[in-house]
Amino acid sequence: MDKLIIEGQTPLSGHIRVSGSKNAALPILMSCLLIPETVSLHDTPCLRDIFTTLELLRLLGCSTNMEGNTVFVEAGQSLQPEAPYDLVKTMRASILCLGPLLARLGQARVALPGGCAIGSRPVDLHLRALKKMGAKIDLDSGYIQARCNRLKGTHISFDFPTVGGTENLLMAAIFAEGETIIENAAREPEIQDLANFLIHCGANIQGHGTNLICINGVNQLSGGEYRIMPDRIEAGTYIAAAAITQGQLYLSNCPLNFMESTIGKFCEMNVYIQKTSNNLFVQSSSMNGIDVVTKPYPGFPTDMQAQIMALMSVSHGSGTIQETIFENRFMHALELMRLGADIKIIGDTAFIRGCPELKGAPLMASDLRASASLVLAGMAAQGTTEVHRIYHLDRGYESMDDKLIQAGAKIKREKN
Ligand code: UD1
Repeated sequence: MDKLIIEGQTPLSGHIRVSGSKNAALPILMSCLLIPETVSLHDTPCLRDIFTTLELLRLLGCSTNMEGNTVFVEAGQSLQPEAPYDLVKTMRASILCLGPLLARLGQARVALPGGCAIGSRPVDLHLRALKKMGAKIDLDSGYIQARCNRLKGTHISFDFPTVGGTENLLMAAIFAEGETIIENAAREPEIQDLANFLIHCGANIQGHGTNLICINGVNQLSGGEYRIMPDRIEAGTYIAAAAITQGQLYLSNCPLNFMESTIGKFCEMNVYIQKTSNNLFVQSSSMNGIDVVTKPYPGFPTDMQAQIMALMSVSHGSGTIQETIFENRFMHALELMRLGADIKIIGDTAFIRGCPELKGAPLMASDLRASASLVLAGMAAQGTTEVHRIYHLDRGYESMDDKLIQAGAKIKREKN
């Protein structure tokens, strides 16, 4: 297992291009199960979760190929309905094949994803909604066993705007009979990208990007080419990297329209950000603690929570972070404290008092965004920080260490 060895306190400077969005690419790749012709997806990030998804698509009977950042997928006529546990357990987003398999084959057998490091993360809302569309769903030996004739359009109101649930249902409804209305739908930009891709291939979807999505079933989709939107969380992570190292970075290919709450919070901390079309210049100045509450989009993203905690650990004064989306998503706090950060957790809220300097130490990454926050903190700390279990980082960031090294960071990757 690889680890990163970071020599801290080197200001970043230079240019980083933001990659295509992981959380947009994953559902878009799954939605290719709906399309019997070849699809070409540009700007697909080269990272572990994408490779896992391509492996899953191959097991389900698709042919796939990745050349640089372009992926080709063809879900011809020999699809099979089973997503096995060995793959699903490594990536929760595998559950996103359930909707498209049901829509295309009328059956699916998908392993239940189970718990994960950031909370129990059930899929009850996905299943309840698919049942309402006429699917018969049983749980059998750890598998979701689903069957239907043609799914039927219906009116679904989510209790909570679940991102994956909205995506699964959107894909399930593409060939459904009549109209499907999703109320209290999640509004995340990645869902908008999925809908735009499906519309490009012939789907009839309206209202994506709002909390009321309306899908009218069509008979088939056709192949085509599409460019995945840039990754707003990766962009936010590199803004934090520039700020925490007292550096300055020029970021290109930023989805600025979708980053308002993140950029707003950085500005509130006193980070200087200048925006031009889809590029951004960020320069650090003396930062102060602020109060942050994670919320569904357009609120502050839970996927930026760990990174902003690292930043607040070295800011002036104190601040709070309330995590309202996931229970148990503060594992990084304990690791940051090993570097000397002053953090107290009470219930769903972290109280952070900025300290003048962190000191390097060996750290253990617990999940994807936690790993990113530890790398950030390591770059700010005095001396050497080792971040172990870096495979979490490789799941969701395209060449993060290489990009940071290119901007002047002193980082080495070593096999443990
Ligand atoms: C997606 C993102 C993840 C992000 C999250 C919230 C992908 C691949 N992952 O995850 O990076 O952190 O959105 O923005 O896009 N819940 C239920 N029952 C359900 C579904 C969800 O109780 O059936 C709960 C979850 O446990 C969690 C909350 O709802 O507490 C949010 O989950 P959801 O929006 O579904 O997140 P994911 O799609 O898993």
